[in-house]
Amino acid sequence: MKITAFGVRPDERQHLERWARQHGDDLVQTSALLTPDTVAKAAGSAGISCFQTVPYEAAVFKTMRKLGINALALRNTGVDNVDFGAAQHYCIHVTNVPAYSPNAIAEFALTDMLYLLRQTGLVQRDLHQNHYQTATTHIGRELRHTKVGVIGTGRIGRTLIAILNGIGAKVLAFDPHPPSDPHLIFEPVTFQQLLHESDIVTLHIPGTPENTHLIDEAAIATMKPGALLINTGRPNLIDTSAMLAALRTGQLGGVGIDTFEHETEDLLALAEHGRFTDPQWQALLAMPNVILSPHIAYYTETAVRNMCDTAMQALHDLAEQQTSDCEVYPAAG
Ligand code: NAD
Ligand code: COI
Repeated sequence: MKITAFGVRPDERQHLERWARQHGDDLVQTSALLTPDTVAKAAGSAGISCFQTVPYEAAVFKTMRKLGINALALRNTGVDNVDFGAAQHYCIHVTNVPAYSPNAIAEFALTDMLYLLRQTGLVQRDLHQNHYQTATTHIGRELRHTKVGVIGTGRIGRTLIAILNGIGAKVLAFDPHPPSDPHLIFEPVTFQQLLHESDIVTLHIPGTPENTHLIDEAAIATMKPGALLINTGRPNLIDTSAMLAALRTGQLGGVGIDTFEHETEDLLALAEHGRFTDPQWQALLAMPNVILSPHIAYYTETAVRNMCDTAMQALHDLAEQQTSDCEVYPAAG
């Protein structure tokens, strides 16, 4: 079958090509993102695969319908950038990759925690300014002596809890649907209790509209003074203005942000400006108790391979059986 893959990065090519070779697919790959301007490249395909954090707009689904393409397989987990109303309207099946490697993101959250606990940003800043002696004065804290509040105990949250259990940290967790895995050691608490008692709060929830600014000024005010906040979840989860204000007063001791609130706008303007010009991004970048990353928590060799394989399998399942285990329905979006 003919498949067009959009948003293809160099590291994905080998996996997509291997799959196409093994399954006799006619594969067209492009680094272009899937937009109303590019979707016509997929003409003649049975399905489209794509990887991007910028929106999948209604006009894309409209053109897919005109081209007779009814399947879009995302090579990632989050679906908050999909206009599901439009996908449904134009009868397009949308699939994601629900669990390409929860460890990749859980380990990244752990990396941020350790970076902040050991004050690595301050050490690096001092060394870069040739203040070797001062760089030896930033005493760290040990994760096993902290309380970590995990918000969201889905695949990634649960994986993180298992890792934290191994390290010996005390884990508090909040999720309206808590897991029943007897191997996980954590205390289920309310949202307020988690904020109030945790030394570190880490977010592993989807970017649904109701989760927008879950961590706002009021939530931050109830956190322990000097607590650490990690967001590898979605850009809309934290009110960045409130977070910046709390970093300036010390109410927040440090933050690790992989999914920055304005990443989509900044990404769309990147070609024009050549860098993220957002003043909040610049302010965070200048703080030694902040660790920023460009939405790469997922980015491991294992994850990339699984993302490509699962998306290609989903397109085959849709073409051959009109159904896929990875199909995402509007209610879940
Ligand atoms: P999942 O669907 O397995 O689990 C999400 C959990 O969040 C569910 O148990 C749900 O009940 C819970 N939840 C939703 N809203 C909540 C709230 N307000 N408070 C507490 N719990 C809430 O998802 P997952 O695979 O664990 O992924 C979690 C999120 O991580 C994804 O939705 C995605 O946004 C993000 N993610 C980020 C990256 C990255 O590279 N940074 C990669 C993959 C996924
Ligand atoms: C996801 O898989 O949901 C991610 O956040 C990774 C990616 C879109 C950058």
